[in-house]
Formats: sequence, C-alpha cells, structure tokens
Amino acid sequence: MKPTSALITGASKGIGFAVAKRFAPMLSVLHLVARGNEDLQKAAENLKRPGLSIHLHSVDLTSQEGVESLAKAVKDTTSTLDVLVNNAGVYLPGSLVGENRSDLRYMMNLNVLSHYDLINALEDCFPPGSYIFEMSSVAAKKLFLGKPGYSISKHAQGAMIDALRNEMRPRGVRVTSVMPGPTWSHSWEGAEFPKQRLLEACHVADLMFAAWQLPKEAVLEELVIRPFDGDIE
Ligand SMILES: NC(=O)c1ccc[n+]([C@@H]2O[C@H](COP(=O)([O-])OP(=O)(O)OC[C@H]3O[C@@H](n4cnc5c(N)ncnc54)[C@H](OP(=O)(O)O)[C@@H]3O)[C@@H](O)[C@H]2O)c1
Repeated sequence: MKPTSALITGASKGIGFAVAKRFAPMLSVLHLVARGNEDLQKAAENLKRPGLSIHLHSVDLTSQEGVESLAKAVKDTTSTLDVLVNNAGVYLPGSLVGENRSDLRYMMNLNVLSHYDLINALEDCFPPGSYIFEMSSVAAKKLFLGKPGYSISKHAQGAMIDALRNEMRPRGVRVTSVMPGPTWSHSWEGAEFPKQRLLEACHVADLMFAAWQLPKEAVLEELVIRPFDGDIE
C-alpha cells in the first residue's frame, strides 16, 4: 500500500475522532490535534494498529504560534500530507447584542482563522491529488437566528472554503466543504432528544470517506447531511 498521511484537528472527540477512526485503516501516518493530551492519548489507544504511526499534538489552535509550531512538528516527520481534515470548531450560544452576547470573536478565531492559519502554515505539504476537508455546517448556508455568532462564523468560513478551492485547483488539491446538521457529540451533552433526532458522527465520517474514494478527476465540493427530521433551530 502506498504510504498515506493525514492530519485531523479536533480529533480527540466527536466528528473529528469518528473521521480518524474511519480513515485510519487506509493510513500509514496519522497526526491528531486537540488541546487535551489525555483525550488525545485515549483516541490514539483506540486507533492504534500495526503499520500506522500516530503522532499526537496538544495545541490550542486559536494561538497563531501554536499553529506554527504544530506545522513545524508535522513537517519534521512528514514531508507531504495526503489528507487534511480542518475540523476543530466550537458552538458558543448567545445573542449578538446584550448581556448574553455570543463570543463571536472566539468563534471567528477557531472556526475560521485557525483553519486559514493552518492551511497557510502547511501550504507546501499538499501534493497533487491530496485532499482538504473543511468541517463546516448547515449553518454556513442558512442563518440560524437563534445561533447568530456560530452562523456568522460558518458563513465566513464558507466563503473562505470557496476561495480556497479556487486557489488549490491549479495545484491539483481537492477541497470539500462538509456541512452536517445536528450531530451527537460533546457539544450536545445534556440534550434530551431521541437518538434518531441527531446524526451520529460516523454518518459524517462515512460520507467523507466516500468522497475521498472518488478518482482524482472528481471532487464532491459540498457535502450536506442532515438527520432525516431536519434541523434543530
Ligand atoms: N456536532 C454538531 O452538531 C455539528 C454540526 C455541524 C458542524 N459541526 C462542526 O464539526 C466540528 C466538530 O464539532 P464536534 O461537535 O465534533 O465537536 P466536539 O465533540 O466538541 O469536539 C471538538 C474537538 O475539537 C477540539 N478543540 C476544541 N477547541 C480547540 C482548540 N482551541 N484548539 C485545538 N483543538 C480544539 C476538542 O478537543 P479539546 O477540547 O481537548 O481541545 C475536540 O477534539 C466543528 O467545526 C463544528 O462546528 C458540528
């Protein structure tokens, strides 16, 4: 098997971990990124298998210095990346104006600018035929008035992804925007919906894996997946 390398951010939990699990059997090198080292260790324990070299990076991606040192550490061991899953992101509640203001600045930092910084820090690592998955959301297409800050960050990220796809096309790098609806993860802890009201993270991971399997001449530019019963406003 040709050596295949991937880097996944926000890989210790939720959708990021499900993607790591789905892609791992096809990989020889896997870089996992999150802040919490203990959760990263647990994830690696779950993913390990002969022939797969797993590298853990405990990094706060909202720090530009953190992103730079992550890129350096990745390049020290891995010259090219076949897959980047820019997944780390957060939903913080709150309205735009007033006392319970949404932390728009933080969401812009993590959901948009950290993705931009990481792609720039790694820009010489993507060979023709490689793949960048940007974890977006249905909130990139539709303004959820109850989640204004999150929707704003995901709309901004959506514009960035379209521009990125355009710039990466001449390099032969495919860029996919992944737009899940509500998906069970850490961020839904405590919610009392019936199980089927939300997607499972493995549904999203399966869809991304299928996109990755397409021949290089084709790209699934946007993956939109929702629970059968639709969004939760
Ligand atoms: N769940 C949903 O309903 C849903 C729907 C659509 C889109 N999405 C998108 O999917 C992505 C993942 O969401 P999720 O629900 O799977 O999240 P999650 O379960 O809360 O997991 C988030 C992951 O990101 C890491 N992380 C958080 N802040 C970070 C930071 N500053 N630096 C580095 N790593 C950080 C977390 O680890 P540490 O806390 O240890 O850093 C964890 O590994 C996000 O971009 C989200 O917007 C989610």
